[in-house]
Amino acid sequence: MVTPAKINLTLEVLGQRPDGYHELATWMIPIGLYDELAMELSGEMTYESNLTSLPFDSSNLISKAIDRFHEETDRRATYRIDLRKQIPIGAGLGGGSSDAAAALLLLNQLHQNPLTDEKLARLAAQLGSDVPFFLKRCAAWCTGRGEKMEMREFPHDRWVVLIKPEFGVSTAAAYSAYKVLPSELKRGQTKKTEWGLLRNDLEQPVFQKYLLLPEIKSWLEQQPETELALMSGSGSTMFAVVKSVDDGEQVSGRFSLFFGFKFWVQVCRLNPG
Ligand code: C5P
Repeated sequence: MVTPAKINLTLEVLGQRPDGYHELATWMIPIGLYDELAMELSGEMTYESNLTSLPFDSSNLISKAIDRFHEETDRRATYRIDLRKQIPIGAGLGGGSSDAAAALLLLNQLHQNPLTDEKLARLAAQLGSDVPFFLKRCAAWCTGRGEKMEMREFPHDRWVVLIKPEFGVSTAAAYSAYKVLPSELKRGQTKKTEWGLLRNDLEQPVFQKYLLLPEIKSWLEQQPETELALMSGSGSTMFAVVKSVDDGEQVSGRFSLFFGFKFWVQVCRLNPG
């Protein structure tokens, strides 16, 4: 099963919740960048991946998804698992959450659908705030801690240039830094676009620590092809929305000339459908 990455076209942090999480309003849009997860029933548990730095232990969201699915359905089985990752980790592109959602969908299929959509969504939310979004893979307005969704279409033909430096950012660390920001810095810089007023409130806390990211953002904003430049989620990926794949390739080629090649750079379709 191929499973997509996402970007946050806007991410507003509305306040802190009694459970320690933050109340959000975010417009999440799938992008044409995919991991591929295969799972089948097998006499023993095996795990293979092109990404050797991601162990199959309790930190791996696929392993957690299997454990939670077994608990919830009272079933036990072993699987042959193969994960081909293209979505970088620590990138704010939702790769781990997307893999977890794909695992839940595949497990439910392999066991003849014991869980309803509603139960799957509840289980997904326990695995991570944006896992429910990846069960549906549609442009959506997400609230609560990110797990409550209503469809909000993005009916425009656009592409994104994604730029990720060598380092990643931990989501928990980004929110911890957000918590201690003075209130005048708690709102990201707003950009007026034809799709609304868009911003990412996690930029300020993350930019304070990773000084390269605001530099990339202002460089992207200066490119004539760029319609919007923002950080995705808690970073470290910066993205620019452009009108065509050609525009995207112009921007990405110019970026590499200017900043060098020590970056992961991709051009892909926004909301591929
Ligand atoms: O839910 P998820 O695993 O993505 O969250 C990772 C961490 O990010 C949480 O442990 C929490 O510290 C922080 N977070 C938050 N508010 C949210 C989502 C995540 O504070 N709405």
